[in-house]
Amino acid sequence: MNNKPIGIFDSGVGGLTVARQIMRAASSCKLIYFGDSLRAPYGDRRPEELIEFSREIIDFLLSKDIGALVVACGTISATVFDDVRKMVDIPIFGMVEAAVEAALSTTETGRIGLVATAGTVAGRAHEKAIKARRPDAAVKAVACPLFVPLVEEGWLDNDVANAAAKIYLADFADHKIDTLILGCTHYPLLINSIKAAIPADIKIIDPAAKLAENVAKTMTGTGEANPQHEFYVSGNKDKFDKISYIVLGKPCDAQIVAL
Ligand code: DGL
Repeated sequence: MNNKPIGIFDSGVGGLTVARQIMRAASSCKLIYFGDSLRAPYGDRRPEELIEFSREIIDFLLSKDIGALVVACGTISATVFDDVRKMVDIPIFGMVEAAVEAALSTTETGRIGLVATAGTVAGRAHEKAIKARRPDAAVKAVACPLFVPLVEEGWLDNDVANAAAKIYLADFADHKIDTLILGCTHYPLLINSIKAAIPADIKIIDPAAKLAENVAKTMTGTGEANPQHEFYVSGNKDKFDKISYIVLGKPCDAQIVAL
């Protein structure tokens, strides 16, 4: 079994929602987190840029002798995951597979909604994977480009976030979905605004929970009760530290790294 640290990365603070779930499901695993806060958002970046950024971040994480990699970015997972997979020869976990597994085991009607970045919606990876396993399923996807900047700004639960959620999620009104996938790892931080904007009986999927379950099956952890996680950012350290405190409930004091 694999007791090395787990490398995990995202464009910024969103991946902390995934880190949080891994800390719960695999509590003795040490995480080495990289948030590319200087270059966030990734949502409408070209695939070539996402590949280049991933390569730089993965080289950094590999230099820390990680034993597995978590791509805690929905956009990279949904668009260039095959390219990223080829960059490592250790276990790798992406958000789309976890989202699809969780959504298919939750939906009754097969009518599934997806909220995500523009890049993720355009790639249609969730829809293809869902239909490959359940051909009668219907997937309606809505891009919410304002959500990531709101989260990076720390506007998690205010009138602007509520108004944005209400407008974006109104697009689902005619589609009778019973399950909604949060296809971007920043979005669980807007859960209150999202819940307030949709009927209470729609089940909301945060794929991070399923991903963390899968990680826990592969990684043994260090055996320590409280491993010392490491956090690195490419910039905007103060905002990152502030939001990470909200998400993880403890200070992370990220170090700035120039890639
Ligand atoms: N949190 C990432 C995602 O899941 C990145 C979003 C962004 O930076 O636009 O898509």
